[in-house]
Amino acid sequence: MSGMSRRRFLGLAGGAGVLLTAGIAAPRLLRPAAATGELLTSEIPLPPPFQVPLPLPPVLTPVSRDGGVDRYEIVQRAATAEILPGVRTPIWGYQGIFPGPTIESRSGRTTVVRHRNELPVPTVVHLHGGRTPPESDGYATDLVLPVDGRYLAGAGHAHSGMADPDAVVTTGIRDYTYPLRQNAALLWYHDHRMDFTGPAVYRGLAGLHLVRDDEEDALPLPRGERELPLMITDRAFAADGSMRYPSLDPSLRSVPGVEDAYAAGVLGDVIVVNGAPWPVAEVSANRYRLRLLNGSNARRYDLALDPPAPLTQIGSDQGLLAAPVQHTHLTIAPAERYDVVVDFGAYPVGTEVTLVNRLGSGTTAHVMRFRVVRRDKEDSRVPAKLSEVERLERATVTREFAFRSGQYNGRHGWTIGGEPFTPTKVAAQPRLGDVEIWRFVADLHHPIHMHLVQFQVLSRGGKAPSPQDAGRKDTVDLRPGEAVEVIARFDGYRGRYMFHCHNAEHEDMGMMATFRTV
Ligand code: C2O
Ligand code: CU
Ligand code: CU
Repeated sequence: MSGMSRRRFLGLAGGAGVLLTAGIAAPRLLRPAAATGELLTSEIPLPPPFQVPLPLPPVLTPVSRDGGVDRYEIVQRAATAEILPGVRTPIWGYQGIFPGPTIESRSGRTTVVRHRNELPVPTVVHLHGGRTPPESDGYATDLVLPVDGRYLAGAGHAHSGMADPDAVVTTGIRDYTYPLRQNAALLWYHDHRMDFTGPAVYRGLAGLHLVRDDEEDALPLPRGERELPLMITDRAFAADGSMRYPSLDPSLRSVPGVEDAYAAGVLGDVIVVNGAPWPVAEVSANRYRLRLLNGSNARRYDLALDPPAPLTQIGSDQGLLAAPVQHTHLTIAPAERYDVVVDFGAYPVGTEVTLVNRLGSGTTAHVMRFRVVRRDKEDSRVPAKLSEVERLERATVTREFAFRSGQYNGRHGWTIGGEPFTPTKVAAQPRLGDVEIWRFVADLHHPIHMHLVQFQVLSRGGKAPSPQDAGRKDTVDLRPGEAVEVIARFDGYRGRYMFHCHNAEHEDMGMMATFRTV
């Protein structure tokens, strides 16, 4: 497809926001678009791609490892980052960096992270993909107020989240406890404040959390320097170097949401991987394990290598697959993860291999580049059997949830089952230990995420799941007009959890709901 017609498609997708405001059921009128969202363009000259070396977020050192518990401390603060070369960009970061530091944990060993909020707004941390007790799961109203106490004197404390009697609100510091009774997987942590997750994550509040286990260690997979975590995001930059974002209230204190034109989602024109624009990584002609995360607010990518080589998927959101699955391209929606092995040994030394985005155009059509610089000894392979994955088939309850446009706070917004998010409402009460089928129905693109559980995709559009739905997941990419069934066992902990669309703008404008395991 040409750049022109792609732009027209993006325009149509954005136009959906306008149609929906008028209460018209738009999806049937729309051709399938790359993403649900509207493009924000940068007001600053953009650098040429593939110049900046791929950064790897630093791995955080625990402050102690006593008594079988790994303790970490993270300060959330405002800082300046050099994302575009020579440009100073104000960010909000965990430890003042974007992405935040990576945490590496052992399955079954408790990790406690003490977060200190030195930002000017309340925050709450969620470990996405973590099987976490409710009090540490980062429910959207369990806020940590800024440490300096100034926030309470401001206007912001009146915002809707504070009206939740079950919210646990503290000032300055919160310990989040992660028992991590789950298998090896790439998780990520990010801000989850009611009404303001999109802009807070966009400013930088996101980091990776790897869980390791013995099963994974025993496999001959690429490791060490040949394992690369890749947090793929999109951003737009203002003339002064700051990140452009269309918040109604740029202080992120009281008025939630974005300008109506962006209500379908914010798409940036710069692809930022691990905090660098279209970076380049030197690799040897060997197998590499790429731990992919789409950390974007609304953008979906269809990833492929150019010149072409297979993407061998070995894991999904929640860990290793039973057996590898070969793809020529992989669609990744916000918050989804793929664990992929690429054999750069298929290329002659000297090849420049581009990771392209087949859903992008212009600056968003490429993600990063690998430069094959030498050939080393190969000691890794992808075994035919990777993990033991229990197949869930029998459910006691089936529930259905429709994800559609609607009203939120009297403006254009998004709903689940016709209702915008209200913390005091409970949409489902699964019994602890029960297996349930949840059927999701979408009007536009909605990447649907469930906290606490791992699920398996049972069907998509009334047919068998697509190859990339394989394995244990926590986020599933729904396309316009599509229905997807997932099956999950609700075990772990009793309490209050969220499920929501992970298009961050949809999430902030109502598309979130609560389930309670009982
Ligand atoms: Cu990644 Cu409820 O979030
Ligand atoms: Cu989550
Ligand atoms: Cu959505």
